[in-house]
Amino acid sequence: MGLDRSFALDRRAERIDALAAKRKKVIASDQMIEGHYPVFADWAHGAHFWDVDGNKYLDFFLSYGTVILGHADPDVDEAVVREIRRGFATGLMKPVQTELIEELLGIVPGAEMGMLLKTGSDATGAAVRLSRAFTGRDRVVRWGYNGWHDWCAQWDHGIPAVSRALVDTFTYNDLDSLRAVFERHRGQIACLVMMPFMVERPAEGFLQGVRELTREHGTLLVFDEIRSGFRLALGGAQEYYGVTADLVTLSKAFANGYAISALTGRADVLRTLDTVHISSTYYANADAMAAALATVRKLRSGDHLKRIWQMGERLQSGLGRLVEEFGAPIDVVGHPPMPFLDFHFGDEDRNQQAKRSFYTATIREGVFLHPNHHWFISAATTDHDIDTAVGAARRGFEALAEAGWLPADWRRRQEDGAV
Ligand SMILES: Cc1ncc(COP(=O)(O)O)c(C=O)c1O
Repeated sequence: MGLDRSFALDRRAERIDALAAKRKKVIASDQMIEGHYPVFADWAHGAHFWDVDGNKYLDFFLSYGTVILGHADPDVDEAVVREIRRGFATGLMKPVQTELIEELLGIVPGAEMGMLLKTGSDATGAAVRLSRAFTGRDRVVRWGYNGWHDWCAQWDHGIPAVSRALVDTFTYNDLDSLRAVFERHRGQIACLVMMPFMVERPAEGFLQGVRELTREHGTLLVFDEIRSGFRLALGGAQEYYGVTADLVTLSKAFANGYAISALTGRADVLRTLDTVHISSTYYANADAMAAALATVRKLRSGDHLKRIWQMGERLQSGLGRLVEEFGAPIDVVGHPPMPFLDFHFGDEDRNQQAKRSFYTATIREGVFLHPNHHWFISAATTDHDIDTAVGAARRGFEALAEAGWLPADWRRRQEDGAV
């Protein structure tokens, strides 16, 4: 697998492109499997993409989970091209905006109104500002990854202490830890913004408990469904788990890769928009709206989500068999449409080293599995693709064994057919 052209381009980019210099790969530099992961993409189709060196990858990253139907979906791209040819940027509303929101209201539980923005951080940031305006309170509680704005950025550097001081978090699946935050800041918390889950699934009654606590404290519940929306079910985790938030943020998988996000929920809260400043020149652009409408209609009318679940289940059971066979301290986790492997090799340092062995082997097989981010399944993924991925994972487990990460008896277990 050559990457010469990629690295030459990379050296060129590093000197002039601040993002390329800092975070030039989809995997942060310190977690990189240097020399193996693709850097510059050339083109993509269905479940695959090709890098500028002509290497082909079976894609389980799917642009951070935005590409739900598969790359270059003809129906979505045609809808966008039609809109582009008709002049998509007037700054005025186009009918597609209303049609898309009508569509959303029919899909997302609790959605009485909606608004369309561009990025996920736009939507979560808007949810926080509206919640503060609606409740007249300043404090925020949050959990999971919610974007890069001051109230939720992962690193403190560059963020005023005063912004940080207004935000608390809690332990997932631990209602007591959330209760303690509410007790500490009684009557001051505007909203709780949380992903309904990350890789760990919600314990029985946990999301319901969160819903009750927020109600009890007059705090708005915002489900950040930017990853789970349109993927776990068409109506997201709200539909799947039967819990309805006050506001919901959506983005990935909404438009098969085009840049758009949405905030939906209670009309009384969204109407507070009259009194706050949330706006962008590009919110009215109709290209991504056309993509979203085509994506959502396609998802609604076909069995794409069912297939995504089936493919995810097939992948997870294949991985589960390998874990057994090799006796590896690894858990197969996540919901089938967004699976992942949880490594338990002692501490974070050892986990990262073991991941290096595993994921170097899988990428060499041309299967793009991310070491530190959910994987995603697209509707273009076939049974054959899943078998290819499981085959690559077998190479990953063999690499772990060869590097001495697995129990000494792994070969005997394999011969005995531990599965
Ligand atoms: C759950 C969740 N919320 C918010 C965001 C932020 O979205 P964006 O990167 O488009 O600003 C992301 C992005 O990964 C996300 O996964």
